[in-house]
Amino acid sequence: MEKIIKSADRVKNIGEVFTPQKTVDFMLDQPEIAAKVNSLTATFLEPSAGEGAFLVELLKRKLIYAKSQANGKKDLQNKFLQALSTLYGIEIMEDNVEMLVMNMNSTFQQIYFQTFKPKEQSRKILCSAQVIISANMAQGDTLTHKTSTGAPIVFSEWKPIGKSKVQRTEYTFESIIEGGDSTGTVNKQYEEIDLFADPDEQPAKEPDRHYTIVKWEDVYKQLVE
Ligand SMILES: C[S@@+](CC[C@H](N)C(=O)[O-])C[C@H]1O[C@@H](n2cnc3c(N)ncnc32)[C@H](O)[C@@H]1O
Repeated sequence: MEKIIKSADRVKNIGEVFTPQKTVDFMLDQPEIAAKVNSLTATFLEPSAGEGAFLVELLKRKLIYAKSQANGKKDLQNKFLQALSTLYGIEIMEDNVEMLVMNMNSTFQQIYFQTFKPKEQSRKILCSAQVIISANMAQGDTLTHKTSTGAPIVFSEWKPIGKSKVQRTEYTFESIIEGGDSTGTVNKQYEEIDLFADPDEQPAKEPDRHYTIVKWEDVYKQLVE
C-alpha cells in the first residue's frame, strides 16, 4: 500500500499529498513528456518535488534510454551521469528533501550496480552522481526562489563538452525564471506543465562561480578556476 500522506496537518498547511506510482506512470507516458524522457539533454524541473515520485521515475526512464544510446560501457557511464544531470527538483520541507536526495541516490546506485559488472564499476561515477544530485535537488520555496536561510536557490547547468566532458555553470533560480521569456525556456515550461524541458535552453545570466571543464567521472572533484 503506497503512503500518499504523512499527516492531515501537512496536507492542510503545505498541500502535501504524494502522487501514486500509477498516476506518475500515466503522466510520464503522455507523448509530450515521453519524447523529452527519450533525450539525454532535455531537462525537467519538479517545482514541488516531495520525495521524488516523478523525479525517481524520470531517472529510471532516462537511464534506460541512456543504455539504448551508449557506445560501450565507458560511454554508458558518461551517459548515465549526463541523464542524471538533466533532472532538477525544488522542495520546501527539509525532511522531504532528505528523502528526495536519498531516493535519487539509491535509484541511481541500484541501476548502476545492475548495469555494470564489479570490475567495470567506479567510485568516481557514484561520487559524481552524488554531487549532481545534491546540486540539482534544492531545498527552497519555488514561489520566493529562496532557501530556508533566505539565500537564493542556485542550480547548475551541466553542459556536455564533446563525448566525455562537462562544463558546470551555476545560475540563481531567479535569473533562470527572469531570463525565461522565449519559447521553451524554464519560465514558460514551468507555467505550462510544472516540468520543464528543452534541449536548446540557454540560461541567460552570468554564472556565480567558474567550474573547470572536467570528465564526467571527475565532477565529484568540484574543481573551480
Ligand atoms: C502535492 S505534493 C507533491 C509531491 C510530489 N511532487 C509527488 O508527486 O509526490 C506537493 C509538495 O510540494 C511541497 N511544497 C509546497 N509548497 C512549496 C513551495 N512553495 N516550494 C517548494 N515546494 C513546496 C510540499 O512540501 C509537498 O512535498
